[in-house]
Amino acid sequence: MGPAGPDRHLFVVFGATGDLMQRKLLPVLCRLGTGGKLPAGSLVLGVARRPMDDAAFRALALASMASSGTAEVARPYCERSLFYQSVPDESPASFAALRRRIEELEKQHGLEGNRVFYLALPLEAFGPTLTGLGVAGLNAGPGWTRVVLEKPFGRDLASAQELNRIARRYFEEKQIYRIDHYLGKETVQNLLVFRFANMFIESLWSRERIEQVEITVAERLGVEGRAAYYEQSGALRDMVQNHATQILTLIAMEPPATRDEDSIRNEKVKVLQSVVRLTPGDVVRGQYAPGSLNGAAIAGYRQEPGVSPTSGTETYVALRLRIANWRWQSVPFFVRTGKRMPVKSTRVVLTFKAPPVSFFQTAEEYSANPDRISILIQPDEGFELAFEVKVPGRELRVQTHRMEFHYADVFGELPDGYETLLVDMLLGDPTLFVRADEVEESWRLYDPILRSPPPLAFYPAGSWGPSEARTLVEGWGYRWSPD
Ligand code: BG6
Repeated sequence: MGPAGPDRHLFVVFGATGDLMQRKLLPVLCRLGTGGKLPAGSLVLGVARRPMDDAAFRALALASMASSGTAEVARPYCERSLFYQSVPDESPASFAALRRRIEELEKQHGLEGNRVFYLALPLEAFGPTLTGLGVAGLNAGPGWTRVVLEKPFGRDLASAQELNRIARRYFEEKQIYRIDHYLGKETVQNLLVFRFANMFIESLWSRERIEQVEITVAERLGVEGRAAYYEQSGALRDMVQNHATQILTLIAMEPPATRDEDSIRNEKVKVLQSVVRLTPGDVVRGQYAPGSLNGAAIAGYRQEPGVSPTSGTETYVALRLRIANWRWQSVPFFVRTGKRMPVKSTRVVLTFKAPPVSFFQTAEEYSANPDRISILIQPDEGFELAFEVKVPGRELRVQTHRMEFHYADVFGELPDGYETLLVDMLLGDPTLFVRADEVEESWRLYDPILRSPPPLAFYPAGSWGPSEARTLVEGWGYRWSPD
């Protein structure tokens, strides 16, 4: 590949027979490989416990792509580039065998020794795998070595600190890429361009003009066969600590001094450090009960396969927080996320303060809605600016209208977030990855809630969450913007 493209490499995936690899990574790697976005000759080595040869692994990969109709296009790539190595346990002998296989493949295929270790594994396997790699001397090779960690990065502050300690025992921070796939979404990246490339936007972006900020990450899907993971996780760990918090930091951060990775990530960390300590009263935890979506009956969370009938796991979280800094002092930030909401929608809504009323004679004359900027992160990516216009006529009446921008109208389909992130990682650009201190600061924020979680509130599947979420916001004298 030319100077602008990634180097030839060996991409080692732990958890190669698992859901993430089969459903997400493999199709992305195949697309990149067949689309000429990876240098010719790069290889993928799948690693998992079960014994299997290369041919069986290729067959598994093709079978998992059959339902999307991409298997035939991907076949030559899979035949050429996929290999498999069983690592049955975490013993030094198994990792030594892995090392031998890696060296053998690199020799046979004339690779330079650039290596990625992608841990698509459950959290409890991270530590032993990082240690196994370190003990086998696979933390540094003849070329560059990078390790990619999939979320969750810990399950609270203490476990995140421990994970960071283990990782840094063998790897330098610049070798570690923590993936939060929301950072790969074009619209999330665009938050910085929207803010910092548009003078008129940035001049409005503070407590002078903004009344409240809302972040909504709503999903229609339920737990979808992931009960074993989700029962241990819940919405706070699964969505808030990472995806929603990433959006929060990008919305609230100060302009970075430069566009380099550390300038941006430093500013994100400062936002987290400025959040006023949360108390259980700032949080609503909900769980979906039986309900309906589009007229179809939907089971409650406790009725989902693999979920305990008395489960206390939350599938919904709403929270209110304040950021104590010069820009945001006294502006409330409301965050909510939930499964089994009426629609899939991730968006940020900034509501402007009402103008001084003196221009209007009576409250009826100014009965208009406040102006709003809605940043539509997905689906139907784009922006909406809701503003007031005078209805023609002698009488003074105002009406809300919108200016809209939709990515699809201009740019067509947006690239998959994973594709963007994998290419960035292969190029050695960590800007869109989460730094160790960022992870820890964000756990620090939610630790008090994890330690004393507020009681569960229930909401019917297919609704916008429990009524307690309304009370939470109204308790501070605000309202959610209309759904
Ligand atoms: C994952 C969560 O990180 O993000 C899932 O584990 C969730 O529970 C998913 O469904 C949502 O991602 P997206 O890109 O569809 O919004």
